[in-house]
Amino acid sequence: MTASSTNSASVRVDAAVVRAIAAHAGEAGALLPILHDIQDTLGWLPPEVTPAVAHALNLSKAEVRGVISFYHDFRTAPPGRAVVKVCRAEACQARGSDALVAHAEAHLGVGMHHTRADGAVTLEPVYCLGNCALGPNVTVNGELAGRVSPARFDALVASVTKEGA
Ligand code: FES
Repeated sequence: MTASSTNSASVRVDAAVVRAIAAHAGEAGALLPILHDIQDTLGWLPPEVTPAVAHALNLSKAEVRGVISFYHDFRTAPPGRAVVKVCRAEACQARGSDALVAHAEAHLGVGMHHTRADGAVTLEPVYCLGNCALGPNVTVNGELAGRVSPARFDALVASVTKEGA
């Protein structure tokens, strides 16, 4: 990474933090929505987010770090080029999501909460996508698919598992 790309990444992080803090100024319980907003913008929570948010909310860095590590939704490393989520909530479990998770891990070559070594894909759980009757449900880069069989899963992720995709 060049000095100029490092600087532009840092400007981007600063802008996302400032925007999220301003959007929730004065709200009670603003920490979670601020962290979600920043992650929505950047895809993850870089380390410099912690002191900036702690300072803005008059919290300790340990408190902010504790919240980030408690919620699995927060990423502390950049995601892969594609993010695949498998619903693990009750209704999808009753419709076979445990077996689908095992298939997804084997097919993608990466465990839950991890990003494949080639950076192509991150596999994450999600807890209800509001499509319970059509489980098991999956999202690929936010696109919802229901009634996902292993074969359908493979088709859905075919483009992200291609070499160099
Ligand atoms: S339980 Fe999976 S969509 Fe609701």
